Amino acid sequence: MARERLVSLAFISAADVRCLESVELDLHPGQNLIWGPNGSGKTSILEAIFLLGRGRSFRTRSTERVIRRDRPQLIVFGRTAAPEKTVGLQAARGTPTVAKVGGTFVSSLAELSQVFPVQVVDPGVHKLVEESAARRRRWMDWGVFHVEQGFIETWTRYHRALQQRNAALRDEPTQAAAWDPELIHLGEALTESRRRSLALLRPHWSETIRSLLGREVELTYSQGWARDSALADALQASGPRDAARGLTHVGPHRADVQLRVDGLPARDVASRGQQKLIAVAMILAQLKMLRDGFATPPTLLLDDPAAELDSAHLTAFIDQVVRLRCQLVITSLGPDTAIFPAPDRVFHVEQGRVRPV
Ligand SMILES: Nc1ncnc2c1ncn2[C@@H]1O[C@H](COP(=O)(O)OP(=O)(O)OP(=O)(O)O)[C@@H](O)[C@H]1O
Ligand SMILES: [Mg+2]
Repeated sequence: MARERLVSLAFISAADVRCLESVELDLHPGQNLIWGPNGSGKTSILEAIFLLGRGRSFRTRSTERVIRRDRPQLIVFGRTAAPEKTVGLQAARGTPTVAKVGGTFVSSLAELSQVFPVQVVDPGVHKLVEESAARRRRWMDWGVFHVEQGFIETWTRYHRALQQRNAALRDEPTQAAAWDPELIHLGEALTESRRRSLALLRPHWSETIRSLLGREVELTYSQGWARDSALADALQASGPRDAARGLTHVGPHRADVQLRVDGLPARDVASRGQQKLIAVAMILAQLKMLRDGFATPPTLLLDDPAAELDSAHLTAFIDQVVRLRCQLVITSLGPDTAIFPAPDRVFHVEQGRVRPV
């Protein structure tokens, strides 16, 4: 179908990203395989691609760590196909990351996700289940960015208002309430968007988790303040605590996506491999939702996909991935990987240098 493979990354160049001094790759809209020995720079290439679509790394919160040692800055440039757009990103030490789309600076890095949608499954993917709610909020919000056009603006304005309110709580407590009307309005809107998007996700979630894990995992939204109460009331009730700590304790910035197996938190009862499958199912379900409902097939990065999965579960996982028919960039230690036997394009990496094979 014509709508498939609409946005894919056709070209990427990266300078001073980890061990990569300067690399260029012409990517195929189908399966791309990057192979090379340990420490050659495979994950670094995926990181560079991810930076273009997200403005951040999937390996660290601090983009500064991604800058090549002893270098002042990193630069990544890319070109998407259909529609053709250019995206550039620059991160220098000690300054905020900046990005351009089509030659114009973006006001928020969140805008990148609409130009180049990209997702990653790496060996740390289980952290989506195991670690803090912030990861699950990022996962959820990335999906909503693509489902609802106005969400990025609501999201950005909410977080600005929140910052202002927190700053006021610390510096000028009597002024903090001035931010409440905006925070309440945007916070309720943000919550509604997330709920709508999770409702769209649900059928894909049930189907994906069943075929990957062979059992149900309950996925529920917890909004970040007392259920069945208005955000305005929750803010008011939280007033004394907020003032005492100089921090806003309720609102969608405290939301979470809870995952339960037989009524118990998945992080407590699922094994590491099962957590990986649950996290993979979260990502794949979202990609299916975007592909089926919104013609936004994202690029999927698979870093060492075989790690920690037995062969039956790995086969189920790869089967789902192939059926997505999205652009794939896969890393592997060797040139032939049994799970992707016929990649469309192959690159070899050695000591931070890449060449097409
Ligand atoms: N900021 C940095 N500056 C320079 N080099 C770095 C930086 N961060 C990491 N490296 C180095 O980059 C190299 C490549 O790392 P990368 O994780 O991309 O390798 P890889 O090919 O994915 O290896 P593996 O097969 O072990 O996963 C490593 O040798 C690492 O030490
Ligand atoms: Mg690696």
